[in-house]
Amino acid sequence: MNTQQGISRRGFLKSAVAVGAAISVGPALEKVEAATMPAGGNSTSAGNEIPSSLPHRTLGTGKAAFEVSALGFGVMGMTYNRSQHPDKKQCIRLLHEAVDRGVTLFDTAIIYGPLNNEELAGEALGEFRGKVSVTTKFGHEVIDGKATGRQDSRPETIRRYCEESLRRLRTEAIPLFYQHRFDRNTPVEDVAGTIADLMKEGKVLRWGMCEVNADTIRRAHAVCPLTAIQSEYHLMHRAVETNGVLDVCRELGIGFVPYSPMNRGFLGGELNEYTQFDTANDNRHTLPRFTPEAMRANYRIVNVLQRFGRERGMTSAQLALGWLLQKEPWIVPIPGTTKLSHLEENLRTLDFTLSPEEWKRLEDAVAAIPVTGDRYNAEQQKQVQ
Ligand SMILES: NC(=O)c1ccc[n+]([C@@H]2O[C@H](COP(=O)([O-])OP(=O)(O)OC[C@H]3O[C@@H](n4cnc5c(N)ncnc54)[C@H](OP(=O)(O)O)[C@@H]3O)[C@@H](O)[C@H]2O)c1
Repeated sequence: MNTQQGISRRGFLKSAVAVGAAISVGPALEKVEAATMPAGGNSTSAGNEIPSSLPHRTLGTGKAAFEVSALGFGVMGMTYNRSQHPDKKQCIRLLHEAVDRGVTLFDTAIIYGPLNNEELAGEALGEFRGKVSVTTKFGHEVIDGKATGRQDSRPETIRRYCEESLRRLRTEAIPLFYQHRFDRNTPVEDVAGTIADLMKEGKVLRWGMCEVNADTIRRAHAVCPLTAIQSEYHLMHRAVETNGVLDVCRELGIGFVPYSPMNRGFLGGELNEYTQFDTANDNRHTLPRFTPEAMRANYRIVNVLQRFGRERGMTSAQLALGWLLQKEPWIVPIPGTTKLSHLEENLRTLDFTLSPEEWKRLEDAVAAIPVTGDRYNAEQQKQVQ
């Protein structure tokens, strides 16, 4: 990467933030303060400096601690489930732009594609290993490059998936390996024990779990300390606040990574009842919350965010991400995008600070609108605890 270019782009980003704030905020400027969080340092070797222009956060504690940029990047949608899949060169360029802007946490999984998302992440980010982290996930069974719809977290399968992910990600150690969905046929203690062995061998540095309940988290953490739980969490799906998951993370010192932090793009305001999803490569047309009727009803939530944001110079996407960030200092959302403009908009969230009272006002206004449609259909719901 050309450091010279990186600096000028970062310079441009800074002035764009200032101009953007000045133009859009107007009389309500006093409500928008620059973020006061310190910029985190990034350990780099001489000659290949990674800029660290973003604040950092720490997922997990003790030996499981993992310092990352306060916002990560979900790579999934570049090749899987999000309709628009730009060509590989464009994706690589955008991933490099994210690195250049200080993003150090990138999220993929074996099932995305399957396989081609990990391959993309490996090709784009392999050269930055040790400086940025690509986290990945095992569990969904993939045979001959095809998803079977079953779960397989048997120890020998985890080991095989680990070796294959290491190859695709072009690295010697997976920075954070998540179990993507729990496997009814494999006790969680066996999964945790296998990961502990892979850690001893230096192939996995940390681990996490997705969409598991508080009891499973406790059992797993007792065998091998968890760094992060990754589950769906955003203004339209707040189950982790009441089902004990955030409580157990707080108690045990485990980080939390909200996936689909803008409700699969919906809170960004660019999807509506007329949106056509690519039925061959976008799961949203299978989700009850994304029927035209549900989107028409739920757009009232986007309208609330837009009205609230207008007075503060923030977009609905920034409010969706900012709301998650202000919940806990150990929460790191991983929004996905295929566009530089969205990447910049999303990262700019970190430049805004609202008071706790303002966030509460927004939260209450959104909560007053009932959400139409479940997040998953019956089949997908069976896979989450
Ligand atoms: N653990 C799990 O089970 C699980 C499940 C789902 C996802 N994930 C992870 O979470 C990551 C993000 O999830 P996601 O892609 O489902 O949801 P998301 O981040 O809520 O939304 C992504 C969508 O939002 C759009 N978008 C991004 N920034 C925007 C902006 N500023 N304004 C308007 N639209 C914007 C993107 O479209 P453009 O391309 O047009 O920007 C993209 O289609 C994934 O990449 C994956 O790593 C994990």
